[in-house]
Amino acid sequence: MLRDVKIGPTVIVIFGASGDLTRRKIIPAIYNLFIDGWLPETFSIVGVARTASTDEAFCHQLREGVDTFSRRGKAKEEEWSKFASAIKYMAADYNDRQTYLSLLEDLDAGWRQSANKIFYLATPPTLFTVIVEQLGQLKAFRGEKNYRIVIEKPFGKDLESARALNQSLTEVFDEAQIYRIDHYLGKETVQNILAFRFANAMWEPIWNRSYIDHVQITVAEKVGVGRRGGYYEGAGALRDMVQNHLLQVMCLVAMEPPTSFQADEIRNKRVDVLSAIRPIEKDEVEKFAVRGQYDRGVVDDQPVPAYREEENVAEDSGKETFVAMKLYIDNWRWQGVPFYLRTGKHLPGRVSEISLQFRPVPHHPFSDSVTPANRLAIQIEPKEGIMLRTQAKEPGLGMKIKPVEMHYTYQEVFKSASPEAYETLLLDVVRGDPSLFMRNDQVEMAWSVLGSVLEIWENSIPVDFPNYAPGEWGPKGAEDLITRDGRSWLVPACLESNRKDGICP
Ligand code: BG6
Repeated sequence: MLRDVKIGPTVIVIFGASGDLTRRKIIPAIYNLFIDGWLPETFSIVGVARTASTDEAFCHQLREGVDTFSRRGKAKEEEWSKFASAIKYMAADYNDRQTYLSLLEDLDAGWRQSANKIFYLATPPTLFTVIVEQLGQLKAFRGEKNYRIVIEKPFGKDLESARALNQSLTEVFDEAQIYRIDHYLGKETVQNILAFRFANAMWEPIWNRSYIDHVQITVAEKVGVGRRGGYYEGAGALRDMVQNHLLQVMCLVAMEPPTSFQADEIRNKRVDVLSAIRPIEKDEVEKFAVRGQYDRGVVDDQPVPAYREEENVAEDSGKETFVAMKLYIDNWRWQGVPFYLRTGKHLPGRVSEISLQFRPVPHHPFSDSVTPANRLAIQIEPKEGIMLRTQAKEPGLGMKIKPVEMHYTYQEVFKSASPEAYETLLLDVVRGDPSLFMRNDQVEMAWSVLGSVLEIWENSIPVDFPNYAPGEWGPKGAEDLITRDGRSWLVPACLESNRKDGICP
């Protein structure tokens, strides 16, 4: 990872600049990088969108976004004015060659040749290919390292469409110039998995099938799909969360130690995990994957609609809002260790956690009938931290065993606010460090891991939808998936009812 690279003049072109992503994530992130002094003295932002607007009106809209969504809260007048003086707006038709002609002409005007030029595609995915092709017709970008392109998921909707998208991107840009964002890879705790595993000698000897019984990865959201029904109808939880965020987190937990933090070394190790995931046969999908859809119900004393009643959702929709899966990794380290993944909307809380459940002791000489196994929980949301559950002797006469925990949260230990994932990722784009981004082979491999499930689910409408109420951990089938193996889902540490120790809000 290139932490100390000096950054030259930079211009960031945001296509889809009037959309939500720009207002909520991209601009607040760039603004915070600016405040923290990470951006070069000479930088500019060009917002491109179809809507007619002016520089002033555009800046006004962006400021509202920063005031509402920045981790720092409202922007300060003086800082904002300085930042805003670097912003321009361009109303444009994405299909018109003239748009790109004037854009490219403008970009070079007043910029030294060495300026970094970043094209950020924050548009709906249907426009990705159009924009890339139009750019490609005007200039040879391939190999010109100071030109970079950033794209947001979804990277296709299955293996075939991902290949087609990769093909059109790589016709115009080299792979090294393409930055595919999976924002989970920019989260502090997700990155900390690497530090935790590979900067501490004690874990490596036990981080394998000899000591670990199974791994659980939970990414739960309390909210429903809200106003994103239109997008979600084409996606569903498998495409929206599992294909990218959950599989990438799984890769970091399961990968082999890298020899360096060079971008391709890390990405090769991640891709090795994906390629070792045992394919799920079509006739076994039911045994390995469970889907659910939320019904109407009550959240925080407020009634909430069923998924099928959300805006832009079909009243007989078969889209899943919950997925639970079991995956195996066929290699020496993980042979026979199940990885249980679950994610969904309207679950009991907003919590993301990876739990490594260790094997029980081989023999227990204590009077208690069972000695609970050790558990290591890596907490990603809502409070970033690590919790290790071990056993101790309960004070008193006799030998009674009781679970105790060692834990820390980032906030307690480091006392400083973590940057938003988008800040980390955008800075890496500006610096030209692709370690935390998805390479084309990773994207394609992740689609192929899920291929059979996608196909079976696409072609069979679930008869039991809706099958879970808001506030439940998905449908009963999710329970069955794990209890069949003699195991059970662990309640994420944050949601354990007796917790009053500050590990969670
Ligand atoms: C996005 C999904 O990628 O991640 C959303 O499209 C989801 O559906 C979001 O809500 C979750 O991200 P986070 O950072 O809030 O956990």
